[in-house]
Amino acid sequence: MDPSNKNPAPGLSWEPKIVMFCCNWCSYAGADGAGIGRFQQSPSMRIIRVMCSSRVDPVHVFNAFLEGADAVLITGCHLGDCHYINGNEKTLVKFKFMQMLLKELGLEEERLQLNWISASEGEKFASVVNEATEKIRKLGPSPLKPEGVI
Ligand code: FES
Repeated sequence: MDPSNKNPAPGLSWEPKIVMFCCNWCSYAGADGAGIGRFQQSPSMRIIRVMCSSRVDPVHVFNAFLEGADAVLITGCHLGDCHYINGNEKTLVKFKFMQMLLKELGLEEERLQLNWISASEGEKFASVVNEATEKIRKLGPSPLKPEGVI
């Protein structure tokens, strides 16, 4: 593919690429549950395991977009269930801050999502993945995607 051409070469079609940060204790186990339960899910996700959703820094999110992600999903334990007392409450504050910054950059709010998924919610994990993929497919590639990256 020509790196100076934002359009994919013939035969290559764009599919959403979504970076998903998963908390080790809940949503990462939820991903396992989705696999064990054989719930159908889109292959659009690139999972990054973190020890707590609060470990996700705005720099990680912006780097993901600058390296070609079409969306970023942050997932963690339900409020009240964080293994680090109130880490996910801090995640919520950071998430709102990041949403404001992304809006300033002209990105649609669907491109950054926050979901609470427990270890026993494999089916929910799969539906979050599928719904996010469909939303991003409708929006198209991220305007922050570097030239030549599909
Ligand atoms: Fe899961 Fe904090 S340990 S969100």
